[in-house]
Amino acid sequence: MGRQQGSVRIKEEDVIMKKACSLLLAVSLVACWSAAFGAVGGGDLTFKAKDAKAVFFSHAKHVEGENKKCTACHYSVFQMQKDSYKMDMGKINKGMFCGTCHNGARSFDVKDKASCVKCHK
Ligand code: HEC
Ligand code: HEC
Ligand code: HEC
Repeated sequence: MGRQQGSVRIKEEDVIMKKACSLLLAVSLVACWSAAFGAVGGGDLTFKAKDAKAVFFSHAKHVEGENKKCTACHYSVFQMQKDSYKMDMGKINKGMFCGTCHNGARSFDVKDKASCVKCHK
């Protein structure tokens, strides 16, 4: 009985270690990525948009200052990988993706006509 409990505990510790290792790997990969390309976070990203100018997203502009942590977007709003979701204005206007913050409360409103050119350049 005692021996069984012991081996169960070892398995749990094993799982925790594996999780910790993959997290560490993810963190160091990002660090290497940033060091290699001299970019902040995921750098500058461009999204092609159908019937509109391309959308420009700057990591630097989004992580400068206080209270702007990677976790503001990763992984609740975005994955740490380009094109992991199919975005469109319908979803964004409903408060998904960029619309999580660009809603007129935390930042400029995506539905405001004057805002279009801020993202579509
Ligand atoms: C305001 C939101 C936001 C914040 C904050 C943010 N990111 Fe991102 N990140 C994005 C978006 C958007 C993408 C692209 C996701 C997609 O296309 O599905 C992305 C993608 C990435 C990618 C992948 C880039 C590629 O070319 O595949 C990396 C790496 C990344 N982010 C790292 C970071 C790190 C590190 C931080 C903190 C220093 C951070 N991000 C903070 C929005 C953000
Ligand atoms: C906060 C940034 C942002 C603002 C502001 C914004 N858009 Fe977009 N827009 C996007 C993103 C992101 C996509 C999706 C790009 C992709 O396909 O990956 C998109 C896609 C589009 C598309 C492609 C088709 C579709 O329906 O998705 C059109 C057209 C468009 N936007 C028009 C507009 C207009 C008009 C405005 C102003 C009223 C506007 N956008 C404001 C970020 C923005
Ligand atoms: C976690 C909240 C958050 C999300 C998600 C987010 N933004 Fe922002 N964004 C901000 C804040 C805060 C600012 C700075 C305040 C301002 O300029 O209104 C900002 C500023 C900007 C600016 C003006 C600065 C610049 O780069 O010229 C653009 C453009 C922009 N965001 C585009 C986007 C796009 C495109 C997306 C989606 C791919 C997105 N943002 C997602 C919070 C967010």
